[in-house]
Amino acid sequence: MKYKILQKLMECQGGFVSGEALSEMLGVSRTAVWKSIKELKEEGYLVDASSKKGYRLEQDCDILNSFEINYGLETKIIGKNIEFFNEIDSTNNYAKRIANEDCKDGTIVAADCQTAGKGRLGRSWDSGRKKGVWMSVVLRPSILPDEVQVITLGASVAVVKAIKKVTGIETGIKWPNDIVVEGKKLCGILTEMSCEQDRINYIVVGIGVNVNHFQEDFPLELRNKAVSIKAYAEEKGLDINVCRKDGNIRRSSIIREIAGELEKMYFDINNRKTLNIIEKWKSCSATLGREVTVNIKGVEYAGRAVDITNEGKLVVDCGDGIRREVVSGEVMVRGLMGYI
Ligand code: BTN
Repeated sequence: MKYKILQKLMECQGGFVSGEALSEMLGVSRTAVWKSIKELKEEGYLVDASSKKGYRLEQDCDILNSFEINYGLETKIIGKNIEFFNEIDSTNNYAKRIANEDCKDGTIVAADCQTAGKGRLGRSWDSGRKKGVWMSVVLRPSILPDEVQVITLGASVAVVKAIKKVTGIETGIKWPNDIVVEGKKLCGILTEMSCEQDRINYIVVGIGVNVNHFQEDFPLELRNKAVSIKAYAEEKGLDINVCRKDGNIRRSSIIREIAGELEKMYFDINNRKTLNIIEKWKSCSATLGREVTVNIKGVEYAGRAVDITNEGKLVVDCGDGIRREVVSGEVMVRGLMGYI
């Protein structure tokens, strides 16, 4: 009920609506309206109450919940089912659990805060309350397990486009799917898969975007490697759209844009148009043409990143006449994320 009332208040765009009108429109008692308003306030919404005029919503603050994510979402598959948590261990862990229980293709799991956020290569992922977009998407693509890399690359392209649309900031991709801006990491993606030999049961694409951190919010060891949209915009004096009440960037808008862009990529994949994705990835690359060091299970080699294959492998020219194709492992790119 509280979100039905919220919707009515939003439709009034900052104008007042009387308690009587709300109770009539929604067919509930005035007490039920009052209770819902109280719940909305507890969730952080700023609702003005006037005995003469009724209720009025101050819309300009960054509050995340399933209603906010869904409001204005125009996708067909991604986000048709949304599960939101104030706090969870890891959205990827939860998404895998519900994927095993047959949740809908395109389900989004999002949280205000993760207590055990997971990064790639067994690392942890710092996921403070209200600081970022912590989301996972369950996909059931009609591709083979060894084609999954294209999804990983496609997800990073989707995030680059979404960030550009919402904030105007141009970012780049460090292979395979770290999103960077001026050498610092803004977003990481962790893709996990359940499959049989020749079929994928599901893929969980976990996306962590640093949005509202001040630079001091990052642990000391990350401060020269990581950045948030807000910290970057402040440093550059960019005028991006922030909520007037809390000075934060609205995370629900970022999630909606990611969902929309991810869906385009998903349609491309299911229609076997994977070369589209590879081409788009190349145009957003912050890796190709740069010197890299690759570490695969403790074995290191250096060279120049020259291309990615149609399957998404990174091609490294090692200067000894050998071009190596990297499928996984850690790639350090000179000039990015503290690697000099
Ligand atoms: C990386 O190491 O770069 C990947 C980071 C992925 C973090 C996201 S946050 C949402 C989702 N849930 C997790 O536990 N991890 C991913």
